[in-house]
Amino acid sequence: AKKNDMAIDPLRAVAKEMKFLIGDVRKLLGSGHPSLDRAAKYYTQAEGKHMRPLIVLLMSRATHLCPKASQLQPVYAHQQHQQTLQASAGVDVSISPVNVLSDFNPSWASSSPLPVSQATTPSAATTSSPSPAEEPSASEILPSQRRLAEITELIHTASLLHDDVIDHSESRRGAPSANLEFGNKMAVLAGDFLLGRASVALARLRNAEVVELLATVIANLVEGEFMQLKNTASDEKHPVWSEETLQYYLQKTYLKTASLISKSCRAAALLGGVDNATVEAAYLYGKNLGLAFQLVDDMLDYTRSAKELGKPAGADLELGLATAPLLFAWRDRPELGELVGRKFSQPGDAQKARDIVLSTDGIEQTRALAQDYAEQAIAAISSFPPSEAKDGLVEMAIKTLKRQK
Ligand code: FPP
Ligand code: MG
Ligand code: MG
Repeated sequence: AKKNDMAIDPLRAVAKEMKFLIGDVRKLLGSGHPSLDRAAKYYTQAEGKHMRPLIVLLMSRATHLCPKASQLQPVYAHQQHQQTLQASAGVDVSISPVNVLSDFNPSWASSSPLPVSQATTPSAATTSSPSPAEEPSASEILPSQRRLAEITELIHTASLLHDDVIDHSESRRGAPSANLEFGNKMAVLAGDFLLGRASVALARLRNAEVVELLATVIANLVEGEFMQLKNTASDEKHPVWSEETLQYYLQKTYLKTASLISKSCRAAALLGGVDNATVEAAYLYGKNLGLAFQLVDDMLDYTRSAKELGKPAGADLELGLATAPLLFAWRDRPELGELVGRKFSQPGDAQKARDIVLSTDGIEQTRALAQDYAEQAIAAISSFPPSEAKDGLVEMAIKTLKRQK
């Protein structure tokens, strides 16, 4: 709040919604079983960045004034949709959900059927004190879009619960990891529980295309994690660097990180009923931002300490992972191939690899590629009408590059 006037706080446009976010997420996680309740809510206690819901809320608000997909009455559009399905039954099953549903404007979303009323807490709409006179008094963010933001946090947190088990991680968000606190079994089950609750919340949005997008994200997270079990597409003992090495890494990075951000941006736009060009722009923003975000994450693993990160540093090499800084270094230093081939498993391998990486411009190339993606994210939304939320999205891309943890 004490920042100078020039600094844009990406939170500003959605501060009220963010204030309720974690409380609302926790309400989705209640269980009658006390230890499940505790394990499920564990990662919602600490200081998270909540970057995914923040982006979903900003995207929801930034696309609010973009062209709508159709001026048809929603009921009529829905009937048409039913007719399309009936007419094509048995003839053509390849109906693209994008085409069929993109002009379905979910007007019900503003009188959401969601049972728990946190998505429509009056406080969010009525305590609003917009500064510029032309700001509409009601929040432009639909209850369904707020719920989507909560769902992205649930899916992300589920993946962290599982990830810390897979990575044998001992800390997360500056505290002991859930696997350390509760053991592997409970941590895995808590993650599954979060996915279950996310699925229920998702189903209640009553939008099949949005369900399909987020269900695909869950599959993509697992696909990304599977790709990561290997460092390269080949199984060779002495892999040689090639362009494909980078492509494999970027594909994995899309699946494990950018898929959730890009597809939830797309879902936010769909729920807002905006036109196809806006939906695509939202997706592209999320995809590029997600790639930039993970590249920076992989860079910080080399440059920051565990204390600074709130989680183990230098962990990737210890886990046998060759991420962008190493892949760029490998292009100049072929001897890294042997270490990649055995996943830095011999004593001293990780340190040797780290020293080589730090003696090349691998870190700088990673930063430059992240910047490239961040710029593409900003370019993707350039046609959005000016708004505080759009500024927030731009600022998120800039902050992604500057972040230190
Ligand atoms: C963090 O990566 C982890 C992810 C981005 C995804 C992990 C996905 C799974 C474990 C698959 C299971 C998925 C679900 C939905 C339950 P990281 O280990 O590089 O980051 P870190 O340093 O924060 O641990
Ligand atoms: Mg991890
Ligand atoms: Mg991991």
